[in-house]
Amino acid sequence: MVNSKLTAFLITIVSFFFFTVPSTAKSSTLVQQIKRQTQEQDKELFVGVNIGTDVSNLLSAKDLVSFLQVQKISHVRLYDANPDILKALENTEISVIISVPNNQLLAIGSSNTTAASWINRNIVAYYPDTLITHVGVGDEVLTSVPSSAPLLLPAIQSLYSALVAANLHTQIKVSTPHATSIVLDAFPPSQAYFNQSSKA
Ligand SMILES: *[C@@H]1O[C@H](CO)[C@@H](O)[C@H](O)[C@H]1NC(C)=O
Ligand SMILES: *[C@@H]1O[C@H](CO)[C@@H](O)[C@H](O)[C@H]1NC(C)=O
Repeated sequence: MVNSKLTAFLITIVSFFFFTVPSTAKSSTLVQQIKRQTQEQDKELFVGVNIGTDVSNLLSAKDLVSFLQVQKISHVRLYDANPDILKALENTEISVIISVPNNQLLAIGSSNTTAASWINRNIVAYYPDTLITHVGVGDEVLTSVPSSAPLLLPAIQSLYSALVAANLHTQIKVSTPHATSIVLDAFPPSQAYFNQSSKA
């Protein structure tokens, strides 16, 4: 009786070490990696804003950029690639994420030529005077237009190839923004996981 309790206890201790030690080692490497990346990218905290042009009474591009500067906003995400705003952001040191609207995913993903002309028209024409750092492909596709989910990866791939061809792939990252609702059990972050039915 005592023996079997002791054995159970030992098994518990052994499994505790077996399972926790490797995972602690792994997560501390991950934390270090994230820390390093964060240090490299942004040495200070910042406030970023999303800017859509599909609204009434939007300030002119020039006034909008002056407003951002007065408010010390250093990062923006544009919901599209508005040429006036991209132009007005030249020489401002404001980092810019430009977006590919959902209705352009099909055209871009099915033709490298279309992707290359998108990159030329919206990035090469402004960069580096306008500090474009990322291309956000689509907007919350998995949750808002799930039928377009299969278009996402081809669009990302052809935009990336076009960036490689323009030799901008190390300066400009391609990513895709999603609704936070695809992350389940979001707190604590170490327990968070993606909704598996979102898998393409
Ligand atoms: C686009 O270019 C990539 C890389 O050059 C190639 O692998 C892919 O097949 C091309 N896609 C189309 C649709 O032509
Ligand atoms: C996961 O995603 C599916 C498909 O979008 C949705 O029906 C389901 O409610 C989601 N699950 C949770 C727990 O939110």
